[in-house]
Amino acid sequence: MNMPKKTLMAGDLLVVVSIVLLVCAFPCNYAAGKALAFQEEMARLLGQGQSAGPDDSGDVYHLGGLAGYYTGPGELFPGKGKYGELYGFLPLIRWYDPDYYYNTQEFRPESSLDGWYKNDQCVICHTVENPGIVEQWRRSKHASPAEGKEAVGCDRCHGNNHAELVMPSYNSCGECHQEQLRGHRGGGQGGHAHAYSIDLCEQGSLIGKPAEEVAGCLTCHAIAENRCDGCHSRHQFSVTEARKTGSCAVCHSGPEQYEYEMYMQSYHGQIYQNEAYEWDWTQPLNAKNYKVPTCAYCHMNGGEHNVRKTSTVYTYMGTSLVDRGAPRYKEIREGWVALCKGCHSQRFARDQLEAMDEGVKLSFTKYREAMALVVDLYKEKMLDPMPADLAPDWTGGHNLSLLPGGAARKYNISEIERLTYELLVDMTDAIYKAKAHGAVYSPIYGYWEWAQDRWLVQIKNEASRLRRIAEIEKQLGIEHVAYDFWKHGEYTDMYLGWKMKSGR
Ligand code: HEC
Ligand code: HEC
Ligand code: HEC
Ligand code: HEC
Ligand code: HEC
Ligand code: HEC
Ligand code: HEC
Ligand code: HEC
Repeated sequence: MNMPKKTLMAGDLLVVVSIVLLVCAFPCNYAAGKALAFQEEMARLLGQGQSAGPDDSGDVYHLGGLAGYYTGPGELFPGKGKYGELYGFLPLIRWYDPDYYYNTQEFRPESSLDGWYKNDQCVICHTVENPGIVEQWRRSKHASPAEGKEAVGCDRCHGNNHAELVMPSYNSCGECHQEQLRGHRGGGQGGHAHAYSIDLCEQGSLIGKPAEEVAGCLTCHAIAENRCDGCHSRHQFSVTEARKTGSCAVCHSGPEQYEYEMYMQSYHGQIYQNEAYEWDWTQPLNAKNYKVPTCAYCHMNGGEHNVRKTSTVYTYMGTSLVDRGAPRYKEIREGWVALCKGCHSQRFARDQLEAMDEGVKLSFTKYREAMALVVDLYKEKMLDPMPADLAPDWTGGHNLSLLPGGAARKYNISEIERLTYELLVDMTDAIYKAKAHGAVYSPIYGYWEWAQDRWLVQIKNEASRLRRIAEIEKQLGIEHVAYDFWKHGEYTDMYLGWKMKSGR
């Protein structure tokens, strides 16, 4: 069935083409706020006013918003780090990186209230302004510490000058809690201290996309690095809260970091769900006080704030292959066995951890099998599209996303690369997390072994399809040139790679 379709008039086309030429001076930038041919055509087709309109007008653009065009955030804060000049953050960043985006002369937001106040005055006003905050603070150890210690008021963390308020980062907390600060800043690659300044600001893959999407990454990555209230939520800053599994779950769940789901599918997690409400969470984390361990019990035992202290070796979330049971890691392995030994026999613990090692090694055979297909297709130039046919990656380059020199990513790649990325980053990683945490949902590593099988079939299916099309084209003498839509589009043109390439 044919859709009713209005053709553009020659005059319209001329206008549209000249706008496109004007706006698409390299790289094509739809964000410039100009209505484009497609939106104009859709506006007429859908009867949405006379012409396309900006997406910040408040008008409802029906049927998928086809007659609206992107205007971008009203305000962006400049980026930070090596590529700072090339990207921006939503204003939300001031809560995620307060030392830089709140507590400095340059970015400090204006307050509607001037003057210097003492803590009693803060409390009086804010009991009206934000009763929840004051109540949580009242319940905290900061409001009523142990004998002989001074209370910590609003003013100690936020300052007394209401025109120049401070938003506290780990630095402020660390003034009084130095041991925790040292742990929090330790751990190196993969740890909380790496999560934002390095993995986000210095490693461009995270900022390769528009600010609105990067904001989603910040919620976990910037809070993890810059604030202590990721685990001790404000304003109670409670230690009992941090011992429970929920304090990690807010970040350690979902694709690529399924630790919470895996834990919940284990005996430990099931018993936790059934019984945890009866336990006395004011007690230190050890085998006398708790029937099963929580995340913090295993990863922060003894109040250790460097969460990587018990990690065998850095593996980029488990996407690098390693035998954690190899002799050179004996010391760490013995540490784990000693921890399990509080509630299990040593033999039981060793067997469980060995099953993790073996399950991990096997899971990589499927990734290698898939990659062998992808690399052959790449060498024979049969990927559709080839890296050169795509928008540049965040480095400005055009290398195979899954090999050195290329930027591993979920977007701006061919179908078979995406499937293979998922087989590694979403699945092989998940199998490690499942085995490390005793997940027993279905007989096979919390489902992911079956998922890997499925993805391997899909990858083979796609490889077969690409080869057969290439064969047909060869026989017919067709020289296929990849379609331009792989490189350009309203969204695709916003990638950092274009800016890197053009040196902007
Ligand atoms: C006279 C009443 C009053 C007093 C006293 C007062 N505040 Fe406020 N405070 C407000 C109001 C109203 C707002 C919200 C309006 C604004 O942010 O400009 C606010 C906002 C804040 C914010 C949020 C700032 C932001 O960026 O959203 C913080 C933090 C704060 N006050 C801390 C304090 C501290 C600490 C003290 C004591 C040193 C204090 N306040 C004393 C009335 C008061
Ligand atoms: C031990 C330090 C500490 C104390 C004491 C403290 N705060 Fe905060 N406050 C924080 C932290 C940490 C944040 C979050 C900072 C961020 O988002 O970057 C915060 C954020 C805030 C915010 C803005 C965020 C929101 O959720 O709206 C307000 C308002 C605020 N505090 C008010 C108060 C008031 C009022 C008191 C006293 C009753 C108080 N604070 C005591 C550490 C403290
Ligand atoms: C001015 C010093 C000071 C600052 C700044 C400070 N604290 Fe504290 N903190 C204390 C004191 C004092 C106690 C109570 C110790 C006690 O009662 O033994 C405490 C207790 C705690 C506890 C234990 C609570 C419990 O339930 O046992 C946590 C967690 C904590 N602080 C976190 C933080 C965080 C997070 C920040 C920053 C947002 C912070 N503190 C800033 C002095 C400070
Ligand atoms: C606010 C979000 C957030 C919270 C809360 C959080 N984490 Fe993390 N965690 C992260 C991020 C993000 C990383 C990855 C850091 C990086 O990019 O280098 C990480 C890394 C880790 C690592 C190292 C992983 C590796 O591959 O080396 C461990 C272990 C860890 N967290 C354990 C915990 C535990 C246990 C808790 C709760 C007690 C917790 N985390 C709470 C966000 C969080
Ligand atoms: C729900 C919280 C959350 C969100 C949102 C999130 N991450 Fe993460 N990320 C984590 C955790 C937790 C880890 C550590 C997992 C592990 O090591 O096993 C991590 C690890 C990483 C790592 C590996 C760091 C290393 O050195 O091991 C990268 C890269 C990463 N995330 C990128 C991103 C990007 C890009 C986004 C946004 C598209 C994002 N993350 C959004 C929680 C999150
Ligand atoms: C019974 C102890 C135990 C519990 C409970 C536990 N873990 Fe683990 N976790 C492990 C072991 C063992 C490993 C593998 C560590 C290694 O050998 O490097 C691991 C690995 C991890 C890793 C990857 C670390 C790395 O360096 O690769 C993260 C992140 C993690 N766990 C987070 C969590 C979270 C979040 C929870 C709670 C939902 C949790 N764990 C509960 C034992 C535990
Ligand atoms: C990854 C989660 C996490 C983060 C982030 C975190 N904590 Fe903790 N914190 C915990 C856990 C869990 C405990 C309880 C450990 C135990 O019971 O052995 C704890 C305990 C504490 C205590 C109580 C120590 C005692 O002996 O009673 C203080 C104080 C504290 N943390 C301060 C901080 C400060 C300051 C920061 C930031 C520099 C911070 N925490 C960041 C999870 C966290
Ligand atoms: C605080 C006590 C405690 C600690 C510490 C602990 N566990 Fe457990 N674990 C339990 C309890 C209780 C069960 C339930 C036993 C049952 O199934 O009857 C359990 C069950 C298990 C199970 C599933 C039951 C089975 O028979 O297969 C595995 C696997 C497991 N734990 C592994 C470990 C490993 C590995 C460690 C150390 C990294 C560890 N646990 C640390 C208490 C603990």
